[in-house]
Amino acid sequence: MSGGKSWRIGIAGLGTVGAGLLDILSRRPDFAPASGLAVVRGVSARSRSRPRPFDISNLPWFDDPVVLAASPEIDVFVELIGGSDGPAKAAVEAALKAGKPVVTANKALIAEHGAALAILAEDCGVPLLFEAAVMGGVPAVKIVRESLVGDEIQSIAGILNGTCNYILTEMEATGRSFADVLAEAQRLGYAEADPSTDVGGFDAAHKITILAALAFGCAPNFAATEVEGIEQVELLDIHMARDLGYRIKLVASADRSGDGALVRVHPSLAPLSHPLAQAGGALNALFIESSRTGRIFVQGPGAGAGPTAVAVAADIADVIAGVRRPVFQAPARSLPLSQPVDPSKMMCRAYLRFLVKDEPGVIAAVSETLAEAGVSIESFLQKPVEGAQGVPIVLTTHNVAESVLTAAVDRIASLAAVLDQPRMFRIARI
Ligand SMILES: NC(=O)c1ccc[n+]([C@@H]2O[C@H](COP(=O)([O-])OP(=O)(O)OC[C@H]3O[C@@H](n4cnc5c(N)ncnc54)[C@H](OP(=O)(O)O)[C@@H]3O)[C@@H](O)[C@H]2O)c1
Repeated sequence: MSGGKSWRIGIAGLGTVGAGLLDILSRRPDFAPASGLAVVRGVSARSRSRPRPFDISNLPWFDDPVVLAASPEIDVFVELIGGSDGPAKAAVEAALKAGKPVVTANKALIAEHGAALAILAEDCGVPLLFEAAVMGGVPAVKIVRESLVGDEIQSIAGILNGTCNYILTEMEATGRSFADVLAEAQRLGYAEADPSTDVGGFDAAHKITILAALAFGCAPNFAATEVEGIEQVELLDIHMARDLGYRIKLVASADRSGDGALVRVHPSLAPLSHPLAQAGGALNALFIESSRTGRIFVQGPGAGAGPTAVAVAADIADVIAGVRRPVFQAPARSLPLSQPVDPSKMMCRAYLRFLVKDEPGVIAAVSETLAEAGVSIESFLQKPVEGAQGVPIVLTTHNVAESVLTAAVDRIASLAAVLDQPRMFRIARI
């Protein structure tokens, strides 16, 4: 049994994660070992009358989450509304200004406004915690911020969006198109009605922005994160990549590089035997490479009411236990902004796919253009596809400057025999 005082919790947002947290707090208010009880003393959502999977009639209701955030009736404010701006941001700022510790699952808010919010939290002398914002139930933030604080992280690469991973896994398993699988995922509730944040790569980009800031001792710089989603991945690419020994995944990565960091989200090819390639369905997975520890791999549920609420509860437990540390790796006012790497210095290996007319000389024209640019081909695959308008030519390259590669691909795209926009996916450096 726990001792100590009762901590009065205010929760704004009673959707998926809010419901999971209310379940934990109603069953086990003493979940924080030996530190005190966590008791819900105020809730807020958009609609008071909306049917919910739990009874809120005995909980004090606040129409306005900003009023709840600053209320003298609560000690800790939990923000589970979502969105980088609007009521979520206003409420978090109000709570911090009122001297209340804040726990949030909101990756968009932390990735886009984390630097300013961290300064506000530290000026006000209260914690701002966001374990649930990255990888839901997998303690990624704690590993990067706390467990490896004595090490030097060199790179991070992972699958950070379960919806995209589910779609790519289903396309390969069932042979259905991106549009078909997305429509089914929406019907089943795995994908949002507006899927652009997930399939466009932005959700994964928010998460890798946060991890990169923690790993490299910078303030989050979402504007510098490169983002490409999975909309351009066709079934044909999934099959061709497989024939070459790879699986296409939406990989979010952050690499220390010179004075900067390369932070990006792209569809990438992972070797079939690699653990990232084997993380299927809605799973999340993360590799962390550091100087002294070497490689760490974690995998688990990146979303869902139960796992995400457990991560929120872990942060509430830290607040209750009195854990105090900077919001990121160093006091917020001293943090440099994460600087992007000079694009001309980026190197990659890549998968290229061209759909071409079935006529003599086309393959020679493609390979000559690549050779003239200095792009060296590693493997080559040409496979007629039943019902396709042209013939797909697929090749993988050796390591090459990305600017050189994209210029060569643009030249090939302009050849009369090329029927479709070429596809270029990087081979993940994992
Ligand atoms: N779902 C996950 O698995 C997961 C995983 C990791 C992180 N997260 C993050 O956790 C946060 C919550 O996600 P969720 O999936 O629980 O969202 P959700 O199911 O859409 O719930 C959002 C909640 O916010 C409330 N809300 C919306 N606008 C509001 C306003 N103006 N004032 C007060 N309340 C308002 C909604 O009220 P009504 O119920 O009345 O509509 C709803 O209860 C987001 O930042 C998300 O990115 C979610």
